[in-house]
Amino acid sequence: MYKIAVLPGDGIGPEIIPQAIKVLKAITKKYGVRFEFQEGLVGGAAIDAYGTALPEETLKLCQESQAILLGAVGGPKWDSLPPPQRPETAALLALRKGLGLYANIRPAYLFPALADSSPLKKEVVEGTDLLILRELTGGLYFGEKKRERTATGEVAWDTLIYTSEEIERILRLGFELARERRRKLTSVDKANVLITSRLWRETAEKLAQEYPDVELEHMYVDNCAMQLIRRPRQFDVLVMENTFGDILSDLASVLSGSIGMLPSASIGGKTALYEPVHGSAPDIAGQKKANPLATILSAALMLRISFKMEQAARDIENAVNRVLEQGYRTLDILSEGTTLVNTEEMGDLVRQAVEEG
Ligand code: NAD
Ligand code: IPM
Ligand code: MN
Repeated sequence: MYKIAVLPGDGIGPEIIPQAIKVLKAITKKYGVRFEFQEGLVGGAAIDAYGTALPEETLKLCQESQAILLGAVGGPKWDSLPPPQRPETAALLALRKGLGLYANIRPAYLFPALADSSPLKKEVVEGTDLLILRELTGGLYFGEKKRERTATGEVAWDTLIYTSEEIERILRLGFELARERRRKLTSVDKANVLITSRLWRETAEKLAQEYPDVELEHMYVDNCAMQLIRRPRQFDVLVMENTFGDILSDLASVLSGSIGMLPSASIGGKTALYEPVHGSAPDIAGQKKANPLATILSAALMLRISFKMEQAARDIENAVNRVLEQGYRTLDILSEGTTLVNTEEMGDLVRQAVEEG
């Protein structure tokens, strides 16, 4: 039996999470495995109920679980809180850091049926199958932060700090992941300006000696943003600093049709965290418009990575593929000649496809 902490969070979180649970329940029937789902409050929802974004109870639940499935946190209601109390920092970043989840795996894959859903040309996005590996507990997000008054106004700073150990462990995972895929690793940096990037690049060069079977290339982050949109098929695994990974993964989501398609896994500690790449989408919350596939695909990553249930993970991915091939679409991926469904209907369709598949 596996214990899964379920944290719906804010905005569309409570709409998309139940769809992933449905699909996981179909897996339990098919494989005779048992999951125990335990819900916890996190983010703005927890601030409203307990006055804190990550209540002790929720943290304990996460620590005692084998995996965590999270929707999203944050929204306009909590935007005026001081930074250390906000859902994003006090809950999400604290959870990632507290659980030691230094590696964030964000695969961006285009399901062939969605070639017409991207605003980019079909010829450009076709065949996209890359993986962004984002360093998650260091870099610009976690360096010293300060804001002070000066004689003339104010001064504020965030600091980008990395130790060679932090860089080495994420790069090592990059090489390992590339080895399981097409053996190409793009190390993304800004070594023409940043000293942390120099250390990053040198560490990558050193590690490359241990992985002669993996092709290593270095690319500046600005060029990388352009190359991702210009010719995404050139990429296999890309590894980068926390902030770079945040930005480039949203960008890469356009290659897969929509941000509503991108799953993620955060690993490195005892308990891994699975969540869609997108946020709480306040603009569509409560309207049954949200695409639940990123969350459903995150559940598939959970089966693959935390529970070593490769076939079950593939069952979910194949089920998503079939539902898309049958022409069902949420609003964000709707294209000519396809059928619009809402969040729940999409969840039901995937559940059914898993049961039948
Ligand atoms: P967002 O990802 O929530 O939304 C960006 C755009 O994408 C919106 O137009 C939204 O409607 C659309 N979108 C996102 N997910 C979708 C889905 N599943 N289906 C269809 N459309 C979808 O980013 P934002 O608007 O910049 O941020 C909103 C809030 O979410 C902020 O408070 C932000 O801090 C938070 N956020 C949380 C997480 C997280 O919890 N992991 C991630 C990113 C942003
Ligand atoms: C993400 C989000 C978070 C991040 C925010 C909500 C703190 O944008 O998971 O991509 O920047 O890591
Ligand atoms: Mn982000």
